[in-house]
This record gives sequence, structure tokens and C-alpha cells, in this order.
Amino acid sequence: MALKINKRVLLLLPDLLHSKGIKTSPCACKNKPLNIKGKKVSSQQWILRQINDPYVLKTKQENWRCRSAFKLIEIDDKYNILKPGFVVIDCGAAPGSWSQVAVQRVNADKSDSEKPTGTVISIDINPIMPIVGATIIPSCDFTAVETQKKILEKLGQRKADIVISDMAPSASGTKHLDNEIIINLCISALRFSTLVLHEGGNMLCKLWMGAEQDKLKRAMEIFFRTVKMVKPESSRSDSKEIFMLGRHFKN
Ligand SMILES: C[S@@+](CC[C@H](N)C(=O)[O-])C[C@H]1O[C@@H](n2cnc3c(N)ncnc32)[C@H](O)[C@@H]1O
Repeated sequence: MALKINKRVLLLLPDLLHSKGIKTSPCACKNKPLNIKGKKVSSQQWILRQINDPYVLKTKQENWRCRSAFKLIEIDDKYNILKPGFVVIDCGAAPGSWSQVAVQRVNADKSDSEKPTGTVISIDINPIMPIVGATIIPSCDFTAVETQKKILEKLGQRKADIVISDMAPSASGTKHLDNEIIINLCISALRFSTLVLHEGGNMLCKLWMGAEQDKLKRAMEIFFRTVKMVKPESSRSDSKEIFMLGRHFKN
């Protein structure tokens, strides 16, 4: 398989190949078509999909930490869930693109002195590199009582306007097990939301379409006036991922 090298490919290729453990030198892909023959078929398909994905290029150009940023941007553009001054809790935040988006939209980095300053608290079981304007709680399991205590400490007397969860387990390969884990992460985010949201607050969580999604929807409907399933355009159509948005917490 040979790739025609154009501007887009040149920009993306070093990172893509590096992430697949393929060594490159700056001049290696300058003039000739790059031969990715000999690589595993799945690696070839992955590289081609990345190169043809407009969001991958935009991620790099706009300095987001990962492509997921566009999903939150799209959801917020449509539902207006992040406003200047809002308090946001971002669960499963690493590497940090949702927190980057949230910081900008709630003005947590005080970049606009005319608007109220928001707060973003970012939690992940893995490390998270610092993000200007966000309060980071790295390397902590969100579902653990101690982690939730830490979040409550950071909140102090304040209530949150929105809890967002993009938490997902590393795929085990066993679909129903992965589904069960992600639903439990959503339920944990829902339970925590009921403690920290003020009346009228919102919750957004990611899950994979499957048998359990109705159970989660019913649970969310107890606490939110409206619950919607959302599939942003930037979420790959061949992915089972979907987002559930609960609006207007009833308290
Ligand atoms: C799809 S990634 C999140 C991407 C992130 N929204 C962004 O835009 O950069 C899913 C994250 O969920 C985290 N995660 C999974 N289980 C978790 C748990 N129990 N507690 C905290 N984070 C968890 C993973 O470590 C991973 O970083």
C-alpha cells in the first residue's frame, strides 16, 4: 500500500507513525510515496483513517489535546451547557481536551475580564498534564469515596452547574463486560451529580450503545427534567459511542 504525500499527510504523518512505533526521519517522507506495505493491515487502516479524518488535522491545528474536543464543542454549540462563570466537573479528563474546551467556554482562565470567571475541576485515574485555568485531580479513581471527597473539598460551599463524564475503561474485548463497566461509571457520575448539582444543573455522560442504555436513561429521568441521547457528527459513525445529556436537575 502506498500513500501519496500531500500537505495534510506531511503534517500528520510523523505523529501517526510514531504512535504506531514506526520510526521516521524528517526527510524520509519528503518526496516519494510512503510505503506502508509490510505493516499490519490494522495499522495501515488506522493510519489511513487518521489521515482522512478532518478532525485529526483540526485537533493539531487548533492545539487540542485530542480529537474528543470537537464532540464537546458540538454538543455545547447546540445545547449551550457551558457558560462563563459556570462550575464544571470533568470526570475522565485525561489527556485534557474536554477540560481545555470547558476552561475556554466558562472563562476559567480569566481570558475575558468582562465575563464571570468559571471553575473547571478535572479528574482522571491516569495522570493529566497541567491545564491553565483547571484544577487537576490526577491519578485518582473517580468512583472512590476519597476522590469524591477531594472534589467536594475543591468545591467548598459551591454547587456545580454541570458534571461531564467521558470516562471509559480500556476495552477488554468482551463487549458486554465493557458495556457494564461504562454504565457503572455513568451511574457513579449520576450519583455524584445528585450531590453536587444545583437545581437546574446538567449532566453529560458517554456510554456505548447497548442493552443497558435504557436502564441508565430511566435512572437519569428520575433526576433530570429532560434526558436526550446525543451523537455528535465528530463521533465516528462506526463507533458505538453515544452521549446522554440530562438537563434541568430537579433536586
Ligand atoms: C476517552 S478518555 C477521555 C478523553 C477526555 N475527555 C479528553 O477530551 O481528553 C477516557 C478517560 O476515562 C478515564 N477513566 C476511566 N475510568 C476512570 C475512573 N474510574 N476514574 C477516573 N477516570 C477514569 C481514562 O483514564 C481515560 O483517560
